[in-house]
Amino acid sequence: MATANGDVPAQSLFAPSLISPAVVSALPEGYTIRPLQRGDFDQGFLDVLRVLTHVGDVSKEEFEKRWDEMKAGAGGYHILVILDEKEKIVGTGALIVERKFIHHLGLVGHIEDIAVAKDQQGKKLGLRIIQALDYVAEGTGCYKTILDCSEANEGFYVKCGFKRAGLEMAHYY
Ligand code: ACO
Repeated sequence: MATANGDVPAQSLFAPSLISPAVVSALPEGYTIRPLQRGDFDQGFLDVLRVLTHVGDVSKEEFEKRWDEMKAGAGGYHILVILDEKEKIVGTGALIVERKFIHHLGLVGHIEDIAVAKDQQGKKLGLRIIQALDYVAEGTGCYKTILDCSEANEGFYVKCGFKRAGLEMAHYY
């Protein structure tokens, strides 16, 4: 387990050393996995997220401004992408590291926005994304990782090693 979280290239959202070597070698031939880059607007990043939910008409400038805000956010944002052999983004997932006072200044990982392009589902890319995010969570010192999902996706997360714990509640604004 690599824990080096230090050297982060300017164009990389988080340290490439936090990408799991086991996941790299388990990907289909020609596929790659890496941290989200500032130039990924042009690689189809938002199109992959559209399989998950409404994204809206986000411009390149808006994407880059949000990326800059995440990059400045004290190492909390870890969004990774899987690219196919044509360098098109076909999957993504995020781990947000929450800094707590409780549990002796504990760190909790929140898994968010997992999406695999429709024509790429069923190739274990979703599983690889979760395994890669688990590796980031361990490498950054999280003591647990949690997520919210629909009943329809429970089976997927169970296959990824998660178990049901608690109940999601929401206020919408
Ligand atoms: N219910 C039960 N089992 C499932 C489901 C499901 N909905 N989806 C996949 N699986 C199983 C697969 O059959 C496979 O099982 P196996 O190991 O026995 O063969 C295992 O889970 C791994 O499946 P993958 O091939 O890795 O799944 P895939 O790459 O298709 O990705 C995902 C799954 C991410 C849910 C994809 O279908 C997707 O992008 N859906 C639309 C967006 C979405 O709902 N994202 C999750 C939102 S929740 C969140 O973001 C925290």
